[in-house]
Amino acid sequence: MAIPPRTNTALVASPVVRALRFEDVPEALRVVGRAVEHGCRWHYGRAQRDAVYASYASHLFVEALGPFESWVAERGGRTVGVAQLDPADGRLRALFVDAGDQQRGIGRALLAEVEALARRRGLGRLHGAMSLNAVPFYERAGFRAAAGVERLVSARIAIPILRMEKSLTSQ
Ligand SMILES: CC(C)(COP(=O)(O)OP(=O)(O)OC[C@H]1O[C@@H](n2cnc3c(N)ncnc32)[C@H](O)[C@@H]1OP(=O)(O)O)[C@@H](O)C(=O)NCCC(=O)NCCS
Repeated sequence: MAIPPRTNTALVASPVVRALRFEDVPEALRVVGRAVEHGCRWHYGRAQRDAVYASYASHLFVEALGPFESWVAERGGRTVGVAQLDPADGRLRALFVDAGDQQRGIGRALLAEVEALARRRGLGRLHGAMSLNAVPFYERAGFRAAAGVERLVSARIAIPILRMEKSLTSQ
């Protein structure tokens, strides 16, 4: 398993994180596609990466209108990341950073925004079905495995994930 090179994220300017608007969806989906192609390439095969992208492509236009909370991260006027939370139960539904912008603190900035909203809403935890390549990122952010590796099925393709969670009550 290849470990991506680490960047000193402290030296890179923070992105602007704002609510996703309907007109952001095409660019947000391009970010999702490139994020998956690059970040998931060592853990997931072609069909699995396509199935993950398709699951967002088929829903994001509708979901931009609700009921979920969605954000984009911008740097230099360019969309570089996307996040989505279900505020009803604290489920992190999406977190993606563009291929060339990974390992530069953008995922952390998006997750901080998600977590801040979850805390304001009084949620006790954040949780999600995390892609295996992203597990070290979530561990770094305070998440822990809530179960063993499971296989989700999307478009008849089995996709291994790890359910992880972060308590918001103890910190
Ligand atoms: C996972 C992802 C969202 C993380 O965002 P990112 O912007 O690359 O991560 P950041 O630069 O904010 O990293 C924050 C910290 O986690 C660490 N980290 C991030 N990815 C890591 C990895 N794969 N392995 C080890 N550490 C990692 C960073 O080094 C950084 O550590 P620091 O606090 O010591 O500086 C992004 O890489 C991505 O989009 N990957 C592909 C799609 C995906 O898997 N999304 C998650 C779906 S559940």
